[in-house]
Order: sequence, then C-alpha cells, then structure tokens
Amino acid sequence: MKFSIGQTLPAKAGGDAVAVCMASCDEPGEALRALNEVSGGFFTCLGESGDLPDEGQLAVFSRVPGVQARHVVICHCETSCKALKKMAVKLWALVAERGWTQVALSFSAVTNQENGVCRTVLGALGGAAYRFDTFKSADKALKKAKKQAKNLHFTWLTDKKKAQAAREELRWAQAEIAGTFFCRDLGNTPANICTPAYLGAQAEKLAKAHDALSAVVLGKKAIQEHKMGAMLAVARGSARQPRFIILDYAPKNAVNKHPVVLVGKGVTFDAGGISLKPAAAMDLMKYDMGGAAAVFGAIHAIAKAALGVRVVALVPAVENLPDGNATKPGDIVTSMSGKTIEVLNTDAEGRLILCDALTYAERYKPQAVIDIATLTGACVVALGAPRAGLFGNDEALKSALFAAGEAAHDRVWRLPLDEEYREMMRSPFADIANISSTREAGAVTAAAFLSRFTESYSWAHLDIAGVAWRSGGDDKGGTGRPVGLLLEYFRHLAENR
Ligand code: BES
Ligand code: MN
Ligand code: ZN
Repeated sequence: MKFSIGQTLPAKAGGDAVAVCMASCDEPGEALRALNEVSGGFFTCLGESGDLPDEGQLAVFSRVPGVQARHVVICHCETSCKALKKMAVKLWALVAERGWTQVALSFSAVTNQENGVCRTVLGALGGAAYRFDTFKSADKALKKAKKQAKNLHFTWLTDKKKAQAAREELRWAQAEIAGTFFCRDLGNTPANICTPAYLGAQAEKLAKAHDALSAVVLGKKAIQEHKMGAMLAVARGSARQPRFIILDYAPKNAVNKHPVVLVGKGVTFDAGGISLKPAAAMDLMKYDMGGAAAVFGAIHAIAKAALGVRVVALVPAVENLPDGNATKPGDIVTSMSGKTIEVLNTDAEGRLILCDALTYAERYKPQAVIDIATLTGACVVALGAPRAGLFGNDEALKSALFAAGEAAHDRVWRLPLDEEYREMMRSPFADIANISSTREAGAVTAAAFLSRFTESYSWAHLDIAGVAWRSGGDDKGGTGRPVGLLLEYFRHLAENR
C-alpha cells in the first residue's frame, strides 16, 4: 500500500474513487460543495431525497457528472479521532471488497481543526489493512487480496498551503503503521517460534535497521551475574533459556540527557507454571509478551520518525512453564534489588520478571520509567478492551500519558495505588509476597508490588492485559496497542522542550 500527498481538486482526481468527508448535511464542507457544483447539484438532490449516508456511515455514488473518478464515496463522520478511525476501517473494507487500487481522499476541508486528521485517517487505513498470513498457504483469494493491497495507492488531497503539514503528518502515520505492524506481528507469532531467543534476535534486527539504535542481548549467565533472581525463578520451568534485552535509542539531537526507560513484559508463553492455568483459551497466553512487542514497536516507530529523544527499552524475556525444575508455590527468591519474595502463585510471574528489570533501570538515572505489561486478568475485568490501566508515582507523568492516550485514541484510565494496597502484599516469611491473600483489586495489588521496586525514580505502569489483543473466533489477534499512545507521548516530549 502506498500513500502520497496530492494537490488536485477532488473533482479532478481520477482513479477508482474519491472519498469525501462530510461533517454534517447542513454544513457539507468545501470538498463536497465543490463536487456538488461541478455536478450541477447532484448532491443537493440526494440530500433532498434523504439519500445521503447517516452519521457514521458511508455511501457510494457512481459516474457523478463532472467528476473524473469512477466513484464518489461520501463519508459522513465527525472529525474526532475516534470517529475518523471508525470511518477509515469502513472505507478500507469497501476499498478491499471492490478491489480498488487508486483512491483519493478529500477529508481536510471539513474543519478548521484539521490538525492530526491526515495522520489519523492514513494511520487507521494502514492499520485496517493489516493481515498476518505468514503461516497460511496462499490460495487464490489470498493471492488476490495481497496483490490488491500491494498495488493500492491512497492520495491525500490538500492545497498548496497545507501540503507541507500534510507531508509531515504522513511521515507520522507511516511511523505509527510500521510500529504497530511490528508489534502485531510479534504478538501473533506463535510461542513455538516467538521464544525469548527470538525476541532477542528481533531486537538485534531492529538495531541493524536504525543507525541511532543499538541492542544488547544478555543470556542466562549474564542474567545470573546481575543477580536477577526473581526473573530466573520464572525461567526455571522452561527448557528455553531466558534473555534480558536492552535496546538503546540515542539520536544526536536528543532533547533529554537522562533517558526515558520503557520496560516490556516478555513472557513468550504463560502456562502459569506449577500454578497451572486452565486449558480453555490458553493459546491466548502467547500474547503475554504484548508489553515487549509494544516497546519494540514504539522504538521502531520513534526511530523511523527520527524523533529527538533518548529512549532505552528493557525486555525481560522468559517462558512460564511447569517442569521438574520449576519454582513452586512457597519458594522464596531474592530479587536483583536484594528484596526477598515469597512466590505464592507461580502464575503471578509478570511482576517477578518486571521487578528485576525495574531495578536494572536505575543505572540509567532515568528521567522516567514506563513499564508496559499484560499483567492481570483483573484489569481485563475492570476496564475491558477500551482502556488500559494506568498507575504510577508521578502525577505529571501520568497526566502526560493519559493525554497522549486521548490524543491518539489509544486510551488509558487512572487506577489508585494507596498504601493499603501495598500492605496487602505482606508475607510472614519474606520481604514481600507475589500475590495478595484475597482476590480483591487484583490489578492494583500487582501494581502495588511493582511500586516497591520503583521508589528511586518517576514511574508509570500500563496494565495492557485487556487492550493488547482481541479475542474471538477468527477475528482474534494483536491490536498493536499501546504503540499509538507511546509514539504520541514521545512526539510531545520531543516537540515541547
Ligand atoms: N498473563 C497473565 C495476565 C492475563 C490474564 C493477561 C488474562 C490477559 C488475560 C498473568 O501472568 C497472570 O496470570 N496473572 C494472574 C495473577 C494472579 C495469579 C494473582 C491473574 O490475573 O489471574
Ligand atoms: Mn501468569
Ligand atoms: Zn503472564
């Protein structure tokens, strides 16, 4: 799929279709008004007979007089990020069904507030076109769909004055598409292939692709030397050895001296360990490296957009399986911080690998640390798919992440971290237990556990268990979230210094 910026008038754009955004029937916007004029009032007639699409819908009209393109698609939608994204998904479905390959988009004239409209629409069109068919034999239909996607060319129509801004937005959309695709591919890749070693190799591959990016992948021995005892306790039950992955993005024009550190949970499969999970839908636990995938995707997008921020990504990568060597409930382990942990449930493994990565992060004297993890089923119960859980010890950092989520329509919601929740993680035998004695507030107690390891810096935690993938029959898969939020957060950081 190709995107470009064009300066033709909507009526003059050829190809299969020109898609025009209409904000409301009373105020159709400049583009539709122009088409109406060249067609001798074609759309006024449609409006009078009630044949224009309802809000949130689109409609196709063929061979409109005076219009070069073979079809006109009227997209009736507000210009909020949410509405535009929904419309883009509908538009993509139409384009794919019709097999169109040349489509012009005239969305910019509907509002004075067009900042971000181009980026949102192109980003969402790209996202809607995503497919994961690496493991499918190519039949006729698949070959055809692939060919169409390859030849498809969207042109964003604008005028001379706005062309430069549109080009800049297109650059952002392309960075976001690349980042979310990388994230979704990693998540969708099954755990027999996407292992800790595979994640390490992917990090090295990313580093090769970008000049300012370097990768270091630590193996079991180095992890032992760093005394990451909590992480090693999780890895014990698997025949596949753990990796500790470090990606360092250090561009020459960085606005921050101390890096922002991203930490991503990289459990390539979570069977629960000795506290074994039930069998139903256990395949979903291949997505338990969704935090790692998001961190890699964000770094890829940041580097592609050549953002001037120093960012370090840390990914503890393990597999959580039961075997004769596995950690058992009641075992006490020593984390890198020196704190001892009573492992009461081996299925609460995410916090065990994260606490060592969060301690490792201290060495960067970070400006901020943001961890991203498919951490708890309780967060799925609390917030579902619309919003991820947001926790932290710094109100300004949380506000910035919340705002980035709203702007990118990749939303989060604040949850509390009072002292009482921390007290629920007490153990009579060790410094801290890895689960609370009750099932209450499971997403919060997990975050409370992490907060014991993040006291020396500004920290936020995103529990993405509900947002990182879609479950369901044949429509399941990684969503690429929260790459959009992260990219927006870093863009803001780079531009507002
Ligand atoms: N990876 C899971 C969390 C999860 C569950 C993500 C469902 C997505 C969907 C995590 O490692 C886990 O198993 N958490 C336990 C914690 C419990 C044992 C305190 C959970 O949520 O049940
Ligand atoms: Mn688990
Ligand atoms: Zn897990």
